[in-house]
Amino acid sequence: MKGVILAGGLGTRLAPLTNITNKHLLPIYDKPMIYYPMETLVNAGIEDIMVVTGGNNAGDFLRLLGNGKEFGLKWLRYAYQDGEGGIADALALAEHFAEGDKILVMLGDNVIEKNIIESVRRFKDQESGARILLKEVDNPQDYGVAVLEGDRVVNIIEKPKDPPTNLAVIGIYMYDARVFDMIGNISPSARGELEITDVNNMYIEAGDMAYDVLDGWWADSGSSIDGWFRVNKMVAAGGANKI
Ligand code: DAU
Repeated sequence: MKGVILAGGLGTRLAPLTNITNKHLLPIYDKPMIYYPMETLVNAGIEDIMVVTGGNNAGDFLRLLGNGKEFGLKWLRYAYQDGEGGIADALALAEHFAEGDKILVMLGDNVIEKNIIESVRRFKDQESGARILLKEVDNPQDYGVAVLEGDRVVNIIEKPKDPPTNLAVIGIYMYDARVFDMIGNISPSARGELEITDVNNMYIEAGDMAYDVLDGWWADSGSSIDGWFRVNKMVAAGGANKI
């Protein structure tokens, strides 16, 4: 299975820190933000990763990460997203790279305390479809929110004003090769983006979406300065990506 890290977008919510660099190159405690998803994927056994980035500082990713040997990767590749057309728009750039394989996708601003080894093992055993990870949060209105019926996810609502549950869909997604056809069939949302939530809802409609609840804390470090600062403190206090 191959890995994709999405690190495009302008990161305006972290301005002025992001006025002269890409959000994912900012520090989280003692390492650049992008190191954390890289380590999550490597811990899950991924040896071949594509980083999708964009904007004016894309070249700095190559300077920082090089060929990925420092992380123990066999291959590290890069793609460039024009503009910021959304998470699904960025993921579409990985179609050729995926070569029909299953993929593990992680948002470049997400950080986890532990690991996803067990979920990835289950996804490998899954014949087809997708798998998402959920986490109970205090502020579900800021995320994609999952609605469950029994042991199935029946809907995901993107940033609902009145959240039906407190289960956030975190930025780690596992897909079979059909994901690229699904991206081709969605239209931009009200915020002008191709939403990953629309893709996930297509898998739900197809009856082919599984989920796990993440063990340990999860943080989205890219949505606000306060959030970014909080993640810095959490990582400084106890570390991340523990096996
Ligand atoms: O963090 C989890 C949440 O991420 C999910 O719960 C939501 O369902 C999902 O829509 C997403 O919400 P955000 O509004 O926080 O996404 P954001 O725009 O911050 O983008 C997250 C990452 O995706 C960002 O670190 C880089 C990448 N990205 C984003 C956009 C808009 C791209 O590579 N290209 C893009 O055009």
